[in-house]
Amino acid sequence: MGKNMDRRQFVRNISFATGAALVGGAPVGTGAADRKVRVALIGTGLRGQVHLRVLMKRNDVDIVAICDIDERMMERTREIFRKSGRTMPAVYSTGPDAWRDLLSKEKPDAVVISTPWEWHKPMVLGSLDAGVRYVGVEVVLGITLDDHWDVVKAAEKHQAHVMMMENVCYRRDVMAVLNMVRQDVFGELVHLQGGYQHDLREVKFNDGKAVRGPGVEFGEKAFSEARWRTQHSVDRNGDLYPTHGIGPIAHYININRGNRFTTLSSFSSKSRGLHEYIVEKGGAGHPNASVSFKLGDIVTTQIGCANGETILLQHDTNLPRPYSLGFRVQGTKGLWMDVNKGIYVEGKSAKPHEWDDQAEWLRKYDHPLWKKWEVSASGTGHGGMDFFVMHAFIESAKRNLPTPLDVYDAAAWSAITPLSERSIRKGGSVVAFPDFTRGKWKDRKPVFAMNDEY
Ligand SMILES: NC(=O)c1ccc[n+]([C@@H]2O[C@H](COP(=O)([O-])OP(=O)(O)OC[C@H]3O[C@@H](n4cnc5c(N)ncnc54)[C@H](O)[C@@H]3O)[C@@H](O)[C@H]2O)c1
Repeated sequence: MGKNMDRRQFVRNISFATGAALVGGAPVGTGAADRKVRVALIGTGLRGQVHLRVLMKRNDVDIVAICDIDERMMERTREIFRKSGRTMPAVYSTGPDAWRDLLSKEKPDAVVISTPWEWHKPMVLGSLDAGVRYVGVEVVLGITLDDHWDVVKAAEKHQAHVMMMENVCYRRDVMAVLNMVRQDVFGELVHLQGGYQHDLREVKFNDGKAVRGPGVEFGEKAFSEARWRTQHSVDRNGDLYPTHGIGPIAHYININRGNRFTTLSSFSSKSRGLHEYIVEKGGAGHPNASVSFKLGDIVTTQIGCANGETILLQHDTNLPRPYSLGFRVQGTKGLWMDVNKGIYVEGKSAKPHEWDDQAEWLRKYDHPLWKKWEVSASGTGHGGMDFFVMHAFIESAKRNLPTPLDVYDAAAWSAITPLSERSIRKGGSVVAFPDFTRGKWKDRKPVFAMNDEY
């Protein structure tokens, strides 16, 4: 404890003495707000390791502690530290509640939670109760509707910031289109589409050794996400992973900031893909061939909004297909679709009724954030967007300001899952969407990516 206190004091002493930090050669953090943020990582599996690498490149961050309970993941994490030439921070790994010790002993300014979904809510609440002011949590925020309400209420009670680390909001094309929307290129928005269309069969199953296939094990015999994520496909039928699609869409139409989701209905197809995969790769006699998966292969969700837009989301993770988030942003003057990389704007596109290649439009409307931070972002995960989401989180903490993605966003986006489950249970009935802001959406103003800072 004494040792920890000494280290904390030391960090505080140097925190305000550092100048502009460098990430990949480009300056990070400017002016009086610049200081070191003491960050702890809970969960250093595959995703936590990506966050770790991004954080390590920032010298406005001190990684004070890490927590994970899987020795193989911890060894990978040690290797990252070894390669970086840094010494390991305090390690908490003694059991599923070791993160609680971390919080009480290290008292970090910020935590980044990258654990299985079922751990997110208790870990967010535990962090808030321990006095952490900035909680970054991986997608999704919780499991049930009550989980989402609990987190919103706790964040309000502690006046702390809970940011879901939804990186797709920062994808370069997604942000260029946001710029176009804000400059009225598409006119008044009417309809939006997105989703999670990603063949996860090699993620949901492996042999307990490799991360992605081969093998058809899940649960205890498997490694990484197959250890926990697949069980959700056994037990639940709904849009289990809505935030990569809905996050960008929410920004396009100012959800929780002048607009809100009002109604939802979901339909699910039959479930075939996961079973067929097991039989094909593991044989009909494999014990997992008798597992019945509740999750329909294609779950389609429609959402209505207070300002009259409709949204179509698709969750498609069990069948062979190339990756696509399937964005479509359509207004009174034109539209963008990412699957065909096309943009059409009436009167401005080269030919009536024909798509322009999106490339020139996206270049023209490249978001100021990307223009400024491109070099810093290059080489970080998912084409650079992982840099931006962490950058926003850390810069908010340094400035002691609200995060640009806040707890209301996290709750509204994640609540799609339990609501879609409910709707499917009721045969596709329309269910009411809760207003986590309790009326504040009417007066709140957009804050996401309004300039080139973070
Ligand atoms: N935004 C993205 O692009 C993206 C990409 C991948 C994963 N994710 C999300 O990140 C989260 C983690 O996914 P992942 O791919 O890293 O999974 P993973 O299985 O590789 O890692 C999860 C880690 O959490 C650890 N863990 C489990 N229970 C714990 C506990 N009680 N205390 C401490 N550690 C615990 C596990 O040992 C494991 O190392 C999920 O929410 C996932 O949806 C997001």
